[in-house]
Amino acid sequence: MQADLIIHGAALIDGTGAPRFDADLAVTGDRITAIGPLSHWQAAERIDGRGLVLAPGFIDPHVHHDAAVLTEPDMPFMVSQGVTTVINGNCGFSIAPVTTEGALPLQLGMIIGDALPRFPSYGAYHDRLAARPPAVNAACLVGHSTLRANAMADLDRPATAGELDAMCRQLDSALREGAIGLSTGPFYAPSRAAPTAELAALAEVAASHGSIYVTHMRDEGDRVIAALDETFAVGRDACCDVHVSHHKCAGLANHGLSVTTLAMIEEFARDHPVGLDTTPWVASSTVLNSGRHRQATRVIVAESAPFPDMAGRDLADIAAEWGCDLDAAVDRLMPATGIFFIMDETDVQRILAYRQTMICSDGIAGGSHPHPRVWGTFPRVLGRYARDLGLFTLEEAVQRMTSMPADRFGLGGRGRLAVGGFADLVLFDPAEIREGATFDTPIRPARGIARVYVNGRPVWSDGQPTGQRPGRPLTRTAPGRVVSV
Ligand code: ZN
Ligand code: CU
Repeated sequence: MQADLIIHGAALIDGTGAPRFDADLAVTGDRITAIGPLSHWQAAERIDGRGLVLAPGFIDPHVHHDAAVLTEPDMPFMVSQGVTTVINGNCGFSIAPVTTEGALPLQLGMIIGDALPRFPSYGAYHDRLAARPPAVNAACLVGHSTLRANAMADLDRPATAGELDAMCRQLDSALREGAIGLSTGPFYAPSRAAPTAELAALAEVAASHGSIYVTHMRDEGDRVIAALDETFAVGRDACCDVHVSHHKCAGLANHGLSVTTLAMIEEFARDHPVGLDTTPWVASSTVLNSGRHRQATRVIVAESAPFPDMAGRDLADIAAEWGCDLDAAVDRLMPATGIFFIMDETDVQRILAYRQTMICSDGIAGGSHPHPRVWGTFPRVLGRYARDLGLFTLEEAVQRMTSMPADRFGLGGRGRLAVGGFADLVLFDPAEIREGATFDTPIRPARGIARVYVNGRPVWSDGQPTGQRPGRPLTRTAPGRVVSV
């Protein structure tokens, strides 16, 4: 009858998709210890939740905060959205294990930055996180491009049998040391030359640990159908659970194709575990020289190393000013990242509305003009897509942000309001919640997030990070679903 903290009077959305109900919730240490009418309980601290919703903290299944969890440990861009757990190591790029002493591929270098030492094993990264924890919990995948950079001097060809074997062994060790799965990104140059069989051989290692194959597919534009087929083939060959990252249909010619891609996923899901996530925006963001500017109706430069002043400006304006074409402007601005308007709102909504779709920010910290998804993703889904447009109920939106990713990535004790579970919590105003970030002013906290707790301790309160860093490195606690041959 005694707790550290009681939040009373809030409407509880428990993360399972069940309708909200009024109850008090008690926390002691890092756990939820009671849910119900608790007015007779004693508590060191009482928070008035009347008029607010209390939900499990959100889990972002796809980010690139591999370094940020160590270099920006207060993680304001995540906790201000109600995110309490991040999954790093996506798109084939992970901060660990990095055993090469040579130069890193461009994208990997951008994700890792230069503020940290290289982590030669996954365990070394995990230990560093445990010793200097961030505000949020952090799990991480092992990136195929990272493994390639370790094993191969020349990335423009398929791996030899010996190189593939070295990658498989490194992946196996990392999964033993706590990494929660494999990510690939054959869209990107360092892995583009990898044939399907190379992806499948690594996915087999992931499957042997009951873990998951997560992919930024080879193509998300004109050949998205073929890329989905390849992803399914990898899953089938390796008997591995597959997950399609930030699903989209990019480029004018491909608008509307989500009708087909979702039908394909639905069909594949009949006899194979498959999942997906997406971001709630019509613009994507990646390296500027990805070729996407040729498919986009508008491009904003997010960051440019040689021309930092160009951050936030339209590529077309820069090219006009320089008197050159877009390709030449891209070349001059590199290394750089861009924001590409290449999706159709109807596709975005159709993918969001699909019942198995999780929500991800795909964010990368840093830069003066990031994509607004870095700060605004989760409140945008709750405000614009659930409340304002009615794409799904608030309960379902929360489920896609909590229990769904927790179950899929094996993060036991997270993603639900349940007695005995970890006290990762977000208290928000359902009438107020919305993103603050826009394409013009992308660094701005969301509205309507009152308080956020990680492992029972407050990390966001009164519109500020609290400075507490109770996050933990997470490993896979639940075995993955067994994939039958
Ligand atoms: Zn990606
Ligand atoms: Cu990504």
